[in-house]
Amino acid sequence: MAERKPLVAGNWKMNGLRADGLALARAVAERARQPHRCDLLVCPPATLLIAVGEVLAGSGVGLGGQDCHPEPKGAFTGDISAEMLRDAGCSHAIVGHSERRHACGETDADVRAKTLAAWRAGLVAIVCVGETRAEREAGRATALVAGQLAGSLPDGADAGKLIVAYEPVWAIGTGLTPTLADIAEIHAVIRTRIPADTRILYGGSVNPKNAGEILALGGVDGALVGGASLKAEDFWAIAQACG
Ligand code: PGA
Repeated sequence: MAERKPLVAGNWKMNGLRADGLALARAVAERARQPHRCDLLVCPPATLLIAVGEVLAGSGVGLGGQDCHPEPKGAFTGDISAEMLRDAGCSHAIVGHSERRHACGETDADVRAKTLAAWRAGLVAIVCVGETRAEREAGRATALVAGQLAGSLPDGADAGKLIVAYEPVWAIGTGLTPTLADIAEIHAVIRTRIPADTRILYGGSVNPKNAGEILALGGVDGALVGGASLKAEDFWAIAQACG
């Protein structure tokens, strides 16, 4: 089986003014000096990317954006291109997060275009997929995720360009998580659709208490962490649960 080093990625979302964002980055960088068995990545708000990148320099902790526009530049007020993320020091970009799919109406085609943009700029795309509560209750979770992958993933993916994050919409920020069997089932569905060495993260209410059992699942190659990534101690505890 292909060797896949776990990744624990923090999605700070729209949180962090300069002072607390930089303090958080310093605290993560400090902990990352200790031995750990996973790759680490933080995705701060765009306003903090450059400053956080400076704090993280030499720590081994990667920097990612939370979204990117499909075009490299142009008249797109308020948007940020993948090239700009790269220029700000990013190695990764989250695309298709459910908060963008649902609140901003992003379609699979949009997510696919953003994934291609990330690749064009030399970034690893972290493509998010996941069902709503209603879709799960209707027994449509696997079909929904398979459909999102079919629509969102361009051809030509490999481990150096793509990470998939399974994030059930109803588990994000709610404290609810699927059963371990349900997580394993969806990860297995995703696994058949991407190259063997490509990582699949679980995201949705991961915390220091549940991280151990989720990360121990064979098909789970790490976590995309929202709320718990805003406390260095919790983020680090999740990282320590790897392996
Ligand atoms: P959460 O968010 O950990 O706060 O549930 C996860 C995410 O949205 O990536």
